[in-house]
Amino acid sequence: MQAWLCETLEGAEALHWRDLPTPEPGAGEVRIAIKAASLNFPDLLIVLGKYQFKPPLPFVPGAEFAGLIEAVGAGVGHLRPGMPVAAIAGTGGFATHAIVNASRVMPLPAGFALDDAAAFAFTYGTSHHALVDRAQLKAGETVLVLGAAGGVGTAALQIAKAMGARVIAAASTDEKCALCRELGADATINYTRENLRDALKTLTGGKGPDVVYDPVGGDLAEPAFRGIAWRGRYLVIGFAGGGIPALPWNLALLKGASVVGVFWGDFVQREPQASAAGLGQLAQWYTQGLIKPVIDQRLPMSELKAAYARMGTRQVRGKLLLVNG
Ligand SMILES: NC(=O)c1ccc[n+]([C@@H]2O[C@H](COP(=O)([O-])OP(=O)(O)OC[C@H]3O[C@@H](n4cnc5c(N)ncnc54)[C@H](OP(=O)(O)O)[C@@H]3O)[C@@H](O)[C@H]2O)c1
Repeated sequence: MQAWLCETLEGAEALHWRDLPTPEPGAGEVRIAIKAASLNFPDLLIVLGKYQFKPPLPFVPGAEFAGLIEAVGAGVGHLRPGMPVAAIAGTGGFATHAIVNASRVMPLPAGFALDDAAAFAFTYGTSHHALVDRAQLKAGETVLVLGAAGGVGTAALQIAKAMGARVIAAASTDEKCALCRELGADATINYTRENLRDALKTLTGGKGPDVVYDPVGGDLAEPAFRGIAWRGRYLVIGFAGGGIPALPWNLALLKGASVVGVFWGDFVQREPQASAAGLGQLAQWYTQGLIKPVIDQRLPMSELKAAYARMGTRQVRGKLLLVNG
């Protein structure tokens, strides 16, 4: 097998494509021949040692991927060679093969494309947990999605629409805003050239959005929180902009609003049944055509460094795929 190996925490430029012995799965494990892996923002952080999860060196980055089961270890009953599967393994995806604990492997329903499966659970799982579970979003409510053309952003936009909400999508360029309108956004805000708070007032008749979905943080958080509706829910998803915002707490008091943390990875571990139910609903929505990953580019696995650079410079629209073969 071959894999991108992270041997020092110096970022994507220091990754090396290495030949490695093809490993056999141990008890409870399977070997997957990887067809496609997708890049998620945490993949940028993990090779810098800046992610919550810090695997020992050396490791193969790539949290999310899909492919075919190639070999099955002892005690694995429900997975067989040849089955198409998706995996959220935390690491191992930027390679030709991976050994994965069977509990992290999801068999794909008929008709679920491998490319889509490689770009699905991380972003849609996060956004479903955020909007359905944590925010208790209701049909007819208004959601503001920041960074709406990115991975979790496009998933949040599609899920909010599937739930009957009104979506205001906010992003940094007119091109990204146009993509969001194509995906069904009811209105868009280009926060590079528009004042976010003023635009929110205009678009909501002064009321503000009921839910704010924020994967960006930084300087956007305070104006977005100041603009939130009475009883609003502000979803803390991530800090792709780099800065962790510090908000004046009186703003929460004045709006009767909640700041709601979202940590999908821990949710999956701590509440596996609730997480599986969420993924089940998402698979149904996918089959019904209500949601579908937006594929920005499909690059050969050898182009991983270009993929990292594209995400690090805010060019990705939806999800970037790395494919084998
Ligand atoms: N809480 C959870 O459970 C959870 C789960 C998954 C991901 N996350 C977090 O969610 C965030 C987004 O992840 P993602 O995979 O969707 O990433 P992504 O596809 O790169 O989207 C991030 C968006 O953030 C905006 N952005 C602003 N400043 C940026 C900068 N300096 N560099 C890069 N992007 C910047 C960009 O939109 P504009 O150019 O339009 O501003 C970009 O589209 C990350 O912080 C990630 O760690 C959290």
